[in-house]
Amino acid sequence: MSKEKIDELNKRKRQISLGGGQAAIDKQHAKGKYTARERIEKLFDEGSFVELDTFVEHRSHSFGMDKKRPTGDGVVIGYGTIDGRLVYCYSQDFTVIGGSLGEMHAAKIVKAQTLAAKVGAPIIGINDSGGARIQEGVGSLKGFGDIFFANSMASGVIPQISVIMGPCAGGATYSPALTDFIFMVDKTSQMFITGPEVIKTVTGEIVSADTLGGARTHNATSGVAHFMDETEDEAIAHIKELLSYLPSNNMENAPRYDATDDLNRVSECLNELIPENPNKPYDILEIIKELSDDGQFFEVQPLFARNIVIGYIRLNGQTIGVVANQPNYLAGCLDIDASDKAARFIRTCDSFNIPLLTLVDVPGFLPGTGQEHNGIIRHGAKMLYAYSEATVPKVTIILRKAYGGAYIAMCSKHLKADLVYAWPNAEIAVMGPDGAANIIFRKEIKDSDDPVTTRAKKIEEYRAEVANPYTAAGLGYVDDILEPSITRKRLISAFDMLSDKRENRPAKKHGNMPL
Ligand code: HXC
Repeated sequence: MSKEKIDELNKRKRQISLGGGQAAIDKQHAKGKYTARERIEKLFDEGSFVELDTFVEHRSHSFGMDKKRPTGDGVVIGYGTIDGRLVYCYSQDFTVIGGSLGEMHAAKIVKAQTLAAKVGAPIIGINDSGGARIQEGVGSLKGFGDIFFANSMASGVIPQISVIMGPCAGGATYSPALTDFIFMVDKTSQMFITGPEVIKTVTGEIVSADTLGGARTHNATSGVAHFMDETEDEAIAHIKELLSYLPSNNMENAPRYDATDDLNRVSECLNELIPENPNKPYDILEIIKELSDDGQFFEVQPLFARNIVIGYIRLNGQTIGVVANQPNYLAGCLDIDASDKAARFIRTCDSFNIPLLTLVDVPGFLPGTGQEHNGIIRHGAKMLYAYSEATVPKVTIILRKAYGGAYIAMCSKHLKADLVYAWPNAEIAVMGPDGAANIIFRKEIKDSDDPVTTRAKKIEEYRAEVANPYTAAGLGYVDDILEPSITRKRLISAFDMLSDKRENRPAKKHGNMPL
């Protein structure tokens, strides 16, 4: 082959690697953002990334686009390895026509999605785009539709991770929304269906892009995003850590690491961690970390619906998904947001063969018209559905309160938990002793000479009779009552015992989960 031809190829590739040119790259850097290719370089193992569709160009002639035909069309796609494991990626290049998405840009993304699903590798989509390429009209809309369809088909087959590192506006937001996890970078990323200008025109409301759809808004308020990082570098490190907890596809288990922590570790501190007074809060994170290998907990959605905690730990090196009430926030009760957060996480774990550990300390569902009118019935039902549907190993520990419907919803034996343990101070009942005594002893309390003392006595009577783990254990709804200190080794034994669990559900097209 002639040297000229090879030189010509290299020259073209060098040119393409500059994206929209040095001035546009400088503008990108000035905003605190890396370019599409720099992000890929940082994400993948050195030298492992293989780019595809490098030479794709759009074929639009409208609005002068025939004179603006950048090679690559504003998105970089390909595959490589992260910590030695195959991963696919697409990365939108804002320096090229604002990373806007036309027909061919979309076709490249769909190619990456399709190949990733075929070979069973996770896909990471880095979003930094002005949205639908306005000049291409319906060609852009078709492109989005194709991406959404591919997202939906890959759902539950391979982990799909979205990273927002710039604007993500209009219908473009629905691709990340269809994926399993969304990372956002504080101050430099936004997601919204209609931007501040449109909102001002239509409703008169004035709002900044960051308040409307910045990283904090979507992590703390809307629950759209799962992770917020201060910088792009932090987000990239965070993504790599998440991948370490996930399998590559739904036919595999998550990678298992050699445990460095003692498998028989006895944690005396767990005997003391929960306050004697059932109304006193404590931090569930302390219990989760005490149980896990090396005290590590990878929390998901830490800023949203803080009354429930979700995330990953390892036990004996194996990934376990944790769902736990947080008594430190709203007393750990279940509300609309907590139900949505937990249900989605349970389904993510079940899709990807990740066993579930549920830690229960729940006083009930949050009362109030706000909750009722916004559909706590519909949202709470998602948890019941998600736990019932899940066939991965399910182990539950009742730490303290487990009342009413919330007791059932937190992966009780009745939703087919494989093993349910309780700690000795667990209270399992239709409702808390205070509420129960008020109802069933109402007349005696009212008629007594000293209603305050009688009420207190009745509450204690009720607690002694019903609000303990022994009644449930006597019926086999609790498999054993544990001294808290030995919980870690019991959990390791439980998940090892359940590792070959097989459970089938009736054949159907699909269930009709309440949404
Ligand atoms: C074509 C676009 C574009 C778009 C940006 N550009 N967005 N070109 N289609 N959607 C171009 C700009 O013309 C500019 O080109 C270059 O990209 C950089 O954009 P700037 O505006 O200079 O950058 P910045 O000031 O950082 O502003 C970024 C921005 C703004 C906030 C994203 O560009 C913007 O508002 N764009 C339009 C966003 C939008 O309304 N998109 C449609 C959403 S609706 P030059 O040549 O000057 O460098 C949608 C529907 C999808 O997406 C429905 C799917 C179902």
